[in-house]
Amino acid sequence: MPIAAEAAPTLSGERAPGPLPPLPMNRFFSLPMRPTLLTLLVLAIPTGVLGADLPGGATTNTTKLGPHAYSEPAANLSLADTLDFKVGRGFFERIWVTAPSSTEAADGLGPLYNARACNQCHPRNGRGHAPSDPSENPVSLVAHLSIPGGDRSPRPIPEPVYGAQLQTFAVPGLAAEGRLAVRYEPIELALNGETVELRRPDYRIVDTAYGAPHADLRLSPRVSPPLIGLGLLELIPEAALRAQADPDDTDADGISGRPNEVWSTSLGRIAPGRFGWKAGHATIDDQNQAAFRNDIGLSTPQHPAGSGDCTASQTACLELPDGNSPQYESLEVHTVITNLVRDYVHNLAPPAGQTHDPEAIGHGKTLFHDAGCAACHTPHWRTAPSADRPHLGGQDIWPYTDMLLHDMGEGLADHRPEALADGREWRTAPLWGIGRSATVSGHSGFLHDGRARSLLEAVLWHGGEAGTARDRVIAMPPQQRQRLIGFLESL
Ligand code: HEC
Ligand code: HEC
Repeated sequence: MPIAAEAAPTLSGERAPGPLPPLPMNRFFSLPMRPTLLTLLVLAIPTGVLGADLPGGATTNTTKLGPHAYSEPAANLSLADTLDFKVGRGFFERIWVTAPSSTEAADGLGPLYNARACNQCHPRNGRGHAPSDPSENPVSLVAHLSIPGGDRSPRPIPEPVYGAQLQTFAVPGLAAEGRLAVRYEPIELALNGETVELRRPDYRIVDTAYGAPHADLRLSPRVSPPLIGLGLLELIPEAALRAQADPDDTDADGISGRPNEVWSTSLGRIAPGRFGWKAGHATIDDQNQAAFRNDIGLSTPQHPAGSGDCTASQTACLELPDGNSPQYESLEVHTVITNLVRDYVHNLAPPAGQTHDPEAIGHGKTLFHDAGCAACHTPHWRTAPSADRPHLGGQDIWPYTDMLLHDMGEGLADHRPEALADGREWRTAPLWGIGRSATVSGHSGFLHDGRARSLLEAVLWHGGEAGTARDRVIAMPPQQRQRLIGFLESL
């Protein structure tokens, strides 16, 4: 069933009650004289309090900080819940097989799919990587597809034949939809004291097996993001998140963040989007179940059709057997499994920051605030209390994101709206744990399509509302720029 067919109320309907007032700290970051105030603030607070060392509060992983830095459960998780976490990880790593098979509990793959297991795209819960040339068929970079018309509705309209996503694999006997091919155009950028080469990607769908896509196809390439601290981000109080928004830029600082507003099946209402590069999903459960459907082709309680992202015109796909089993709620992935995977993802802990060379890191942090980065990369939040997950509630966390959408300029635009997010808007990416990304994933690739090969390249792609901050980085003498990057690496 195409996603758009799901009932979704209009945006005018609901507004959530606001449980908690915004943090006074967050308001500071949107005052017009930010740099001076912030410098004072940063200097006045001892380093430890700014939280780089324990970004996830009491949940922070302080023990395994090598390649498995993103794989530890919340440090304060109870023993019983740690066992569930491990079972959940088993399902996250489960390789799904084609139906019918003798193992009914693990069949139902596809018929169209991008990967056979969650962790094929999120290896060690880290980020995926972009292809380096046109011949490489990227696994962890997927293309979201839609056509215009659904703008500002809580869900985009899928491409009529290819559906919500381009599936690059299919079960035996069925043709995969096609392949995503990239070409990079090098761009030289002169900074104060050095020159940097950026690469601008141009993605095309090639080897299409179901005819030409819609003439007005919108394609958004997305690389898999790291999965740390997501349960904490889900607990940022909705009212605090909305209070941080400044959609009309009333403080005239050039930055006008706003939450995405998306239909959440698990909440049964429209809610601020939190997950995905454009904040297209409000809860981890919604995001995970969409991944089961679109990425692996599996049915879940939210998406009961066994044919995954097959559309009505993909008849051969619809006729293939599915893995929906009567003893498992007539689904391929039943509630017990979606709950275990949800709890696994909820509890992946952010790793401790790096505290060597505090003087250089402190200098980099001051530059980060002075350049205006914290206007979007909000350092600190306090999570709401949670009856279901008390260990994640009431934590002081340092994710460095405001969870809001920002116009990032033409350079990063995908021209594909997703609910309220337009073709130039992206959700501020969290920066916690980013210094350990290369160690976990074995490569450095940043931004929504992995185009940036270093943290500096990621910053230099910033435009739109972040253009002023980027220009300050361009103007910095090289030693200051290194200090700024050193601070990011310490997170
Ligand atoms: C084919 C590759 C692929 C597979 C398989 C995959 N993912 Fe993802 N995942 C992605 C991409 C790409 C995104 C970013 C999506 C977006 O921006 O909308 C993502 C985003 C996420 C997010 C949101 C992270 C954030 O920071 O906002 C979660 C949670 C997630 N995936 C969980 C899962 C789970 C659970 C599974 C298995 C059921 C899974 N993924 C399978 C590619 C994949
Ligand atoms: C106007 C808001 C805004 C400002 C200001 C801003 N950023 Fe960002 N930042 C974003 C958004 C949105 C993204 C995600 C963009 C994308 O993926 O296309 C991002 C992504 C990043 C990334 C890559 C994260 C990842 O996971 O790939 C880094 C690193 C980063 N920003 C650092 C900085 C630094 C350093 C500054 C200050 C010089 C800064 N940002 C200023 C909004 C902002």
